[in-house]
Amino acid sequence: MFNTIGVIGLGVMGSNIALNMASKGERVAVYNYTRDLTDRLVQKLDGQSVNPYYELQDFVQSLETPRKIFLMVTAGKPVDSVIHSLIPLLEKGDVIMDGGNSHYNETEQRYDQLKEKGIGYLGIGISGGEVGALKGPSIMPGGDQDVYEKAAPILTKIAAQVGDDPCCVYIGPKGSGHFVKMVHNGIEYADMQLIAEAYTFLRDTLRLPLNEIADIFEEWNQGELKSYLIEITAEILRKKDERTDAPLIDVILDKAGQKGTGKWTSMQAIDNGIPSSIITESLFARYLSALKDERVAAEQILSGPETEKKHFDKNLWIDYVRQALYMGKVCAYAQGFAQYKMTSELYGYDLPLKDIALIFRGGCIIRAEFLNIISEAFQEQPDLPNLLIAPYFSEKLKAYQTGLRKVVCEGINAGISFPCLSTALSYYDGYRTGRSNANILQAQRDYFGAHTYERTDMDGFFHTEWS
Ligand code: 6PG
Repeated sequence: MFNTIGVIGLGVMGSNIALNMASKGERVAVYNYTRDLTDRLVQKLDGQSVNPYYELQDFVQSLETPRKIFLMVTAGKPVDSVIHSLIPLLEKGDVIMDGGNSHYNETEQRYDQLKEKGIGYLGIGISGGEVGALKGPSIMPGGDQDVYEKAAPILTKIAAQVGDDPCCVYIGPKGSGHFVKMVHNGIEYADMQLIAEAYTFLRDTLRLPLNEIADIFEEWNQGELKSYLIEITAEILRKKDERTDAPLIDVILDKAGQKGTGKWTSMQAIDNGIPSSIITESLFARYLSALKDERVAAEQILSGPETEKKHFDKNLWIDYVRQALYMGKVCAYAQGFAQYKMTSELYGYDLPLKDIALIFRGGCIIRAEFLNIISEAFQEQPDLPNLLIAPYFSEKLKAYQTGLRKVVCEGINAGISFPCLSTALSYYDGYRTGRSNANILQAQRDYFGAHTYERTDMDGFFHTEWS
């Protein structure tokens, strides 16, 4: 019996995707460049239809045609290396799918390279980490639709399900699937940073104990902030260090890593004139955190504000923080979906914004209750310029801006670094300002560089001899 699909790359994600496919009735061929990972997966098997191969040729020949091969290898050159090895073994009509966090530009190059050989190529964003890969990720496939249709029966089966809906939908051409995953990760960075800032205010300004903060996050997760990241943060705050039984969070080093997808999101926005300030500030917050030694030294030199112990109406301020966090998230998602919209027009991706929000409801790291509202907003107005002006959110933020303003002002006066909460507020105020201060910039540019400016009262470009 031929295998119905093959998986190459048997790290945790690849192994779990293979097990997921087998659990949904597929006969799965698996192969890894080194046999150790193959053997490790084989040892875990308990009757699943997962069939190991130790020679790439045997792996390929075991697959029914048109062959469907799912790569879960490290982004970059390893993907090119595997494709190079596969090409001589494949026939026209076969399909290679890249489920790693590849850069969408690289995906587009691989798509073109394989298209010439009649081999289909799908760049597939997979979100949900190890558990998601095993139990159901959010899946963002991009490439030719007819190639997608060959893999759709398997991809929709292994995806997370929300109600009867699989969290998998055809995204668009060429690298669009990896582009959508990239911006998903940018939104993820912003979401994580906003949560970290809310935690800091609760702990350092309201001076709440960790267990009470965990209770607060757990309560928030029952309401409109319901999301995977809020849920796991409550668990993280409760976790005890196995050695000392003290809170584990207090001994985790405050130096954040990143593998690049958030950076790519910011770079693409900057390259294309897209204001992605909150996502970018979340990336810079990680970079600043990495300067740990400098920060420890600077702490002895740089003073903050004189802070007196203030009395706060605890419940009132906890709700201000909830409002602030919700508003920050809405602004971050608004920027992320604006980046989808602007790029879709620029690259001709024709991204299905409503459906992207729908497949983010389950499986992925940013899964959240309010993605239903985001999807409805695009359902009602497909050409919505920005989520901030969707009726539901514009009304909600009219009320919640109080919480965000109070928390940002109080926190900044107390010397807390709020890169994302403060940027979210500035983005909101900037986006709703019809007459901004950019006229000063235009005048300055024309003064020193004769770059000309436009006027509000007549058409054309003007230059003034200022001095
Ligand atoms: C996902 C995650 C995943 C990401 C890791 C690490 O959607 O499952 O976004 O793809 O790579 O979480 O990302 P960073 O190291 O860049 O934080």
